Amino acid sequence: MTRPFGLLAELTYACPLHCPYCSNPLKLADYGDELTTAEWRRVLTEARELGVVQLHLSGGEPLQRRDLVEIARTAAELGLYTNLITSAIGLSPRRAEQLRTAGLDHVQISVQAHEAALSDRIAGTPSFDRKIAAARTVKDLGWPLTVNVVLHRQNIDRIDDIIALVERLGADRIELANTQYYGWGLHNRAALLPSRTQVERAEQVVRAARKRLEGRAELTYILPDYYLDFPKPCMGGWGKLQLTVVPNGDALPCPAAHTLPLPHVNVREKSLAWIWAESPLFQRFRGTGWMPEPCRGCPRREFDFGGCRCQAFLLTGDAARTDPVCILSPDHEIVAEAVRAANAETRPVAEVLAPRPHPRDTR
Ligand code: SF4
Ligand code: FES
Repeated sequence: MTRPFGLLAELTYACPLHCPYCSNPLKLADYGDELTTAEWRRVLTEARELGVVQLHLSGGEPLQRRDLVEIARTAAELGLYTNLITSAIGLSPRRAEQLRTAGLDHVQISVQAHEAALSDRIAGTPSFDRKIAAARTVKDLGWPLTVNVVLHRQNIDRIDDIIALVERLGADRIELANTQYYGWGLHNRAALLPSRTQVERAEQVVRAARKRLEGRAELTYILPDYYLDFPKPCMGGWGKLQLTVVPNGDALPCPAAHTLPLPHVNVREKSLAWIWAESPLFQRFRGTGWMPEPCRGCPRREFDFGGCRCQAFLLTGDAARTDPVCILSPDHEIVAEAVRAANAETRPVAEVLAPRPHPRDTR
């Protein structure tokens, strides 16, 4: 068993945006009793003792936590490299300076598109101008900046303009990630899954941009796994490299694992060391012993670990099946059918996103 090097701390599920691919759980009722500042201090201390060196402060929107500066200071005192993953709503120059002084190392800001009208429509609220202002503040304070854009059917055709915007902001890292179809992303999949033509054009743009940006900025492009033959090694393997702690203190091997019908484990009841090494949840899909065929006899099993357990569960109802993205999976037709629907000639490429409830409305 390896030791985790990364902790994703989802501090709160509160968020002012309404993104249709939101990674928050669909039902938020179980997460209102958030960990206190003192409890997060203990979690970070235990994480450091366990070997964690990278901390990602996320949500929801982590800036909604009034104690964010205190949490960032604790992380810095423990020697953790700390990254803030944020929509930037609430990152005023004053708050940014406080976080800089507290020792926050890196900021990752999400934008939804290259210009205000489309970005605000996808975010479900006027936010683009504030995001751009916050990105400039981050650069002014000398922080390394990553700009993250989730790509989908509604914005992937503007990928050239998106990259140009991020270049103008002087980002050190550009992360273009196609939507993952869990939670709200799966719920809104029909409006989000791009066509093959869109995906192929985007790849060409990314290839050209990589060459142009060489030595200036790192461009990470995450392909839509529905268009791959084999799944990605989700989380680098279950309980292998990183762990997530969500607002109510539940500890998870990946941020979407709250959907799985497995026993919960909470940092209020158990130490992180016990959770990592002993809990049934973290042991359930560790290694390759749990695998069914075709994964069990497959030469790729040590590379992709059978794909994503959450995707297998969401698409088949059984988290222990091969990820249906894999062309060898007996359930691959589920993914193939969604891809066929996304490429049907009768479908317009850009559709208006279906109205969706705000996560807060589902409490
Ligand atoms: Fe990966 Fe399993 Fe598919 Fe092999 S059969 S490529 S291990 S998901
Ligand atoms: Fe949970 Fe992939 S998101 S294992």
